Amino acid sequence: MKTSRRIILSSGNTHKVKEIKEILKDLDIEVVSKDDLGFKDFDVVEDKDSLEGNAFKKAEELSKLVKGIIIADDTGLFVDALDGAPGVYSARYAGEHANYKDNNELLLKNLGGVPIEKRTACFKTVIALVLEDGSKLKAEGECRGKIGFEAHGENGFGYDPLFIVDGLEKTFGEMTDEEKNSLSHRANALRNLKNVIGEILN
Ligand code: IMP
Repeated sequence: MKTSRRIILSSGNTHKVKEIKEILKDLDIEVVSKDDLGFKDFDVVEDKDSLEGNAFKKAEELSKLVKGIIIADDTGLFVDALDGAPGVYSARYAGEHANYKDNNELLLKNLGGVPIEKRTACFKTVIALVLEDGSKLKAEGECRGKIGFEAHGENGFGYDPLFIVDGLEKTFGEMTDEEKNSLSHRANALRNLKNVIGEILN
């Protein structure tokens, strides 16, 4: 299969882009974001009801505009006590124009009175990959933890200060980039994807 030797990230989220570039840095291929290529205004309405649907929508729409291996990440936080909410709707949990603070506040409010042992949650990431010939692949990754009672740590983004990682008993917000990128949902998904990309490049 013939492909251009670069991976293009269909994401304008600078936090995600930084993490993905860092996690993929050992691959023998250039990794660039859509913004790096001048597609800053390119945006996709994430209106599918699954992470996979949104991830493929983001990758496929960009593949119509630019050549290369396109990947897109869609991630959600699934909280057991809230029947899986915010899930696919994690970005807009507190409304269409909600920011990270609004979403975190609503999450804490909705978990009011729920004891720590019932605050279990899972971050899930789906990475969609679209090649120049239109063929598609996906990889998934998870990270389990609990939602704390208040924010801890200044690092990361989104729900990171609330998500206490199982076994480490600290939030993603309290981790260095290296720590988060060694065990996060995104890291696990990209680790699975790397095996596939390796085969394509060879
Ligand atoms: P998206 O739809 O994949 O861009 O992400 C949905 C939302 O999930 C984002 O707006 C963030 O609030 C949150 N999110 C995604 N990835 C992470 C992460 O690694 N840590 C914390 N929150 C995240």
